[in-house]
Amino acid sequence: MSTNAAKNLFIFGSLLCFAVLIILTIDTIGKLDERAPEITEEVNAGKKVWHKYDCIGCHTILGNGSYFAPDMTKTTDRKPKEYLKKFILDPRSIKPDSAMPKLGLSEDEAGKLIAFLEWISKVDTNDWPPQPILALSIAGRTAIAGQVLFQKYDCVACHQIRGIGGAAGPDLTYIGLKRPDIQWHIKHLRNPESVIPDSAMPRFDDLLEDELRDEQIEKELKELAEFLITLK
Ligand code: HEC
Ligand code: HEC
Repeated sequence: MSTNAAKNLFIFGSLLCFAVLIILTIDTIGKLDERAPEITEEVNAGKKVWHKYDCIGCHTILGNGSYFAPDMTKTTDRKPKEYLKKFILDPRSIKPDSAMPKLGLSEDEAGKLIAFLEWISKVDTNDWPPQPILALSIAGRTAIAGQVLFQKYDCVACHQIRGIGGAAGPDLTYIGLKRPDIQWHIKHLRNPESVIPDSAMPRFDDLLEDELRDEQIEKELKELAEFLITLK
């Protein structure tokens, strides 16, 4: 290639890339409005509560903040609102060794904060941050049905198994040793408060996205319980 041709290639190549960049930028800006739902008074008030208590001093949200505590971008997608409210009002009532202090929010402030977190959860972030993926084969054992359900119902958002998963609920790595009884688990999953008074763990019904037939629920509870007792 002559020097001239190389020069032209360089100039036109650069111009072309620049033009593509401009077009993509315009395209993205045009879509931004569609990516976030409307901001209501309550959402706005919730954002002020978020700042008042400096939640961002420990948590990240939309990628900003501190890495001491879990990311709050998709919280209401993964966890029932009632549970989150209880947690925010008094973390240690749910998790006795919680590293999050009781910040002294009022019920009203907690409600507004949930509205804000719900708004954030609906912002289209192209599936960021990714959901924790529990390796489908734990320690060489092949996956059993209940393990797939554990991932599907996002139990992993609140519970860890071998270091993977959320920290809001107890670690389940050895739950099969602590609670070896299948029937206990079925009862617990269906209605945690029937076996642990004041439990903050959500009922199975609240974790479902679609209505399931009773037989299907029976089957899935049994499969989950069978998986849990293998954890030891
Ligand atoms: C001093 C640090 C700190 C501050 C401040 C803080 N948090 Fe937390 N938060 C944590 C930690 C650490 C966890 C992880 C679980 C645990 O250890 O309890 C957590 C967990 C949570 C959870 C449960 C997350 C889950 O995955 O179930 C929610 C919801 C939450 N925080 C909301 C808030 C809100 C809202 C604020 C502000 C009002 C706030 N946090 C302020 C440290 C903090
Ligand atoms: C929103 C958070 C959350 C989700 C989602 C969740 N859990 Fe829990 N779970 C908890 C909390 C918090 C506790 C502790 C409750 C208590 O004792 O107050 C708990 C307790 C448990 C326990 C008893 C642990 C023990 O040491 O006694 C088991 C087993 C369990 N969960 C399994 C599951 C399974 C299976 C799923 C999915 C179908 C699930 N959890 C989904 C929060 C959650």
